[in-house]
Amino acid sequence: MAIKRIAALTTGGDAPGMNPAIRSVVRYGINQGLEVMGVFRGWWGLINEELKALSHRSVSGIIGQGGTILKTARCTEFKTEEGQSRAYDTIKKYNIDGLVVIGGNGSFAAAHHFYGKYKIPCVGVSASIDNDINGIDYTIGTDTAINTALDAIDKIRDTATSMERIFVVEVMGRDSGFIALTVALAGGCEDVLIPEKEIDIEAVCHEIVHGNLVGKMSWIIVVAEGAGKAADIADKITEMTGLETRSVVLGHVQRGGRPTAVSRDIALNLGKAAVDCLIAGKTDIALGLAGGRIVEVDFETAIKKKELKIANFCNLIKTLT
Ligand code: F6P
Repeated sequence: MAIKRIAALTTGGDAPGMNPAIRSVVRYGINQGLEVMGVFRGWWGLINEELKALSHRSVSGIIGQGGTILKTARCTEFKTEEGQSRAYDTIKKYNIDGLVVIGGNGSFAAAHHFYGKYKIPCVGVSASIDNDINGIDYTIGTDTAINTALDAIDKIRDTATSMERIFVVEVMGRDSGFIALTVALAGGCEDVLIPEKEIDIEAVCHEIVHGNLVGKMSWIIVVAEGAGKAADIADKITEMTGLETRSVVLGHVQRGGRPTAVSRDIALNLGKAAVDCLIAGKTDIALGLAGGRIVEVDFETAIKKKELKIANFCNLIKTLT
């Protein structure tokens, strides 16, 4: 059956590049002869009938804006039978033939479940600063978030070196150490603590003390939010080494800002590809970039825990310290 009307939604944590993805879905979809609707606040908008038809003009001027014009939410109601059935009713009421879900692994888990139950064609566009979609190298937003964090770390380095201090910098990543590993390496940081690896503060302190003996006086230790609180780790380091330590939490700053060219290009390509997939009758898949090309990964695979090349990062960080 040929599809006529599709709907796009952004769900979960926003990622810089969601707006260019929306722009791509809307303009390419319309150019392919489809009607495109925008759903507000993710699954919540389907449950509560907050959606409207979008035109070429609806997405003018958003290509360089962070966040999402459709807004986003973490919707617990969609986890319930009632929430899902109300979302299905909205889809039927508005004659929506397919969904483009722009989000991360939580959004894809929900989309997979929903497709299994209601068989509404659904294609995911990988967008999350955490870069934690299995089978996909780079998601929309990752490059922007990493560059934001790196810019902050470069600045912290200036004061750390000048005042010969230890800094513990907390970056985002409740379950994923990708941002931490990447910025620790690119920022020339001395240590990195991530949720995927056992933390050994004693070893970190041992290195700091030995470094001090040979004249290395400033350190930046990056910690992913899921591996511990920067302030607690800084206190522990001071307690164990007697050295002055400062902590910085970069937090939601990493989620905002103008998407980089990389984040925009991925978004524009994936948005178009999602429309093509729905037209071709494909469903229950996530799209992302892997090996330099667009890949289709079934939702079931995409939501599995992504293995990071932790040893590669950590060895290089140590070798270059
Ligand atoms: O979107 C991913 C993420 O930014 C994680 O890195 C972080 O742990 C989480 O979202 C924070 O979520 P919230 O903004 O809901 O507190």
